[in-house]
Amino acid sequence: MRPRHIPSILQFTKLIWQQFAASWEEAGTKAIVVDGTVGNGHDTLFLAKLVGEKGQVYGFDVQESGLTNAQERLEKADIAERVTLFHAGHETVAENLPDGTAVTGAMYNLGYLPGSDHAVITRAKTTIASLEALLPVLTSNGVVTVHIYTGHEGGTAEGDAIQAWAATLPWKEFRVGRYDFPNKELNKEHLLIIEKL
Ligand SMILES: C[S@@+](CC[C@H](N)C(=O)[O-])C[C@H]1O[C@@H](n2cnc3c(N)ncnc32)[C@H](O)[C@@H]1O
Repeated sequence: MRPRHIPSILQFTKLIWQQFAASWEEAGTKAIVVDGTVGNGHDTLFLAKLVGEKGQVYGFDVQESGLTNAQERLEKADIAERVTLFHAGHETVAENLPDGTAVTGAMYNLGYLPGSDHAVITRAKTTIASLEALLPVLTSNGVVTVHIYTGHEGGTAEGDAIQAWAATLPWKEFRVGRYDFPNKELNKEHLLIIEKL
């Protein structure tokens, strides 16, 4: 296949995070990052590498099978000690993070886990509850990425609700960016990028 010049949503998400991580290095930030949807741990591993030895990742998922795979993946890469996994919904983020934790950034990769129970999907109510709990403890210049998929039942309504919620965030406190392919015919996806000022 010929190379494309417009990055895919996954590539663009990684670019945002890599650019963000470069700023931690410059500022000497000890990054504390939340993975709101661990699944099989591909993104958790990516984040654990980015935060480096001094950093910390807190991961959440409601499916134990995925968390077991994620733990194995992190152990294989020898960076499991940088990661704390919670078998809990991301809406419990405020209860589960250690008291006083300031979060540098967070990633949510919504929808269902491929190869797993497709009935276990993220939902607008709990995703928004998690984001609302997280934004107050996000540091200044902290970034949250939310990858929205619409290809499953309820996915479009979930995506619409999250985008409508994000559009209400006050401009003086947050910037909300969006990256997507308006001409994608099926299974539309959107990447929301929220930065706290
Ligand atoms: C698209 S998958 C995530 C893929 C994952 N980031 C990876 O690298 O494999 C979405 C995940 O969200 C999880 N999920 C659904 N509801 C959740 C909730 N309330 N809190 C946390 N995770 C949830 C599902 O179990 C599923 O593993």
